[in-house]
Amino acid sequence: MKILIKNGRVVDPSQNLDKVCDLLVEDGKIVALDENLSVEGAEVYDATDKVVTPGLIDMHTHLREPGLEAKEDIVSGTKAAAAGGITTVACMPNTKPVIDSAVLVSGVKQQAEQESYANVEVIGAISKGEKGEELAEMGDMAARGALGFSDDGHYVKSSRLFLLAARYIKAFDKPLLCHAIDPELGEEGYMHEGTVSARIGVPGIPYISEDIAVARDCIIAEYTGAHVHICHVASKGAVDIIRQAQKKGVNVTCEVAVQHLTLTDEACADYNPATRVSPPLRSMDHVEAMRQAVLDGTVSCIVTDHAPHAPEEKDVEFRNAPNGFCGLETSVGVVLTDLYHTGIFDLNTVITKMSCEPAKVFKLDAGTLAVGSKADITILDLNKEWTVDSSKFYTRGKFTPYEGKACKGKAVATILGGKFVMKEGEVLCK
Ligand code: DOR
Repeated sequence: MKILIKNGRVVDPSQNLDKVCDLLVEDGKIVALDENLSVEGAEVYDATDKVVTPGLIDMHTHLREPGLEAKEDIVSGTKAAAAGGITTVACMPNTKPVIDSAVLVSGVKQQAEQESYANVEVIGAISKGEKGEELAEMGDMAARGALGFSDDGHYVKSSRLFLLAARYIKAFDKPLLCHAIDPELGEEGYMHEGTVSARIGVPGIPYISEDIAVARDCIIAEYTGAHVHICHVASKGAVDIIRQAQKKGVNVTCEVAVQHLTLTDEACADYNPATRVSPPLRSMDHVEAMRQAVLDGTVSCIVTDHAPHAPEEKDVEFRNAPNGFCGLETSVGVVLTDLYHTGIFDLNTVITKMSCEPAKVFKLDAGTLAVGSKADITILDLNKEWTVDSSKFYTRGKFTPYEGKACKGKAVATILGGKFVMKEGEVLCK
């Protein structure tokens, strides 16, 4: 099977490439990248005025399988990824049961191989049942292909256990992906503590709950030399602690979620349950600090933290709503609208943080259009105008704080392993 993508603006920061040319895909691989290619028997895709990039990677997705299929499953979640131009997702282990054993890692991987519309990398749990008491069998999970380990949704409160985990994973060179928020400081809050929480009368969570947790995790990264990756960092203090640690040579990386680059706590002012998330939406000074941290290189990955919930769980009053909302189908559109078209990020930065750098940090066979590499490709229309309408989403967890948002820029085609899985927003049958 051959696909010839004609006349696209190929933007591939992994090769320092930004030029109009053609790209030929054959048998799942990129076989040529040049001007005026012509090949017999190839499906031709006219990418004139479109941008051709390495397939987007989301390092923080909740696919909810096993056990929480009312929220999402591998098929619905990866269809949402394909619709959003995302070719690789890393799925978090806070499922039911928690993915904390080798057999569960293999099970999710096998299921994904059979039925998914994106590459699925599996993150195993750090502690059994994500309870923070006993280490999970990370060695066995690593042997079955777990990409890294996380108790996402929970902070590993015990420093003793976290130190043990950091020492253990060094034996097989895998990262710990940390949900670094001190739960005790957030126990009584529902949103970011600040002027908005005071005004609307909702108890807040102080942002230092993140700073304190991140500081400990960086200290343990420094002490052990283990690779610690801080998930969804959203506080200006936390990101500065990471920056200082990186300057000292500590093996710490981090990611930021789209919502923490584009929304503030003002979005919570009408008590919309779709705006409840952990970490919470913060004030503009934090949002600006996160943007700066992307630009200065402190942040390696822009992620979705796609956290779908069933409508009956999420469509309740603000205080009772679970944290999280969907993100796979809005991420690149929102980033292009609010960060690229406004001149805050250039296209190179967007593609670097949504594809090349995640691939590099997590040693994925992805994030590049170099000849010989796997043909995971996203085609973007930077000027396509569209409105966020969750009724059209593939995800089951349709709540989004971006509902009704007017966007400019969208993924218009997704190629996975040399085959189209999405064209013009429609996910194609496999
Ligand atoms: O808002 C969130 N939802 N943050 C998390 O860290 C967990 C996630 C979930 O699993 O629903």
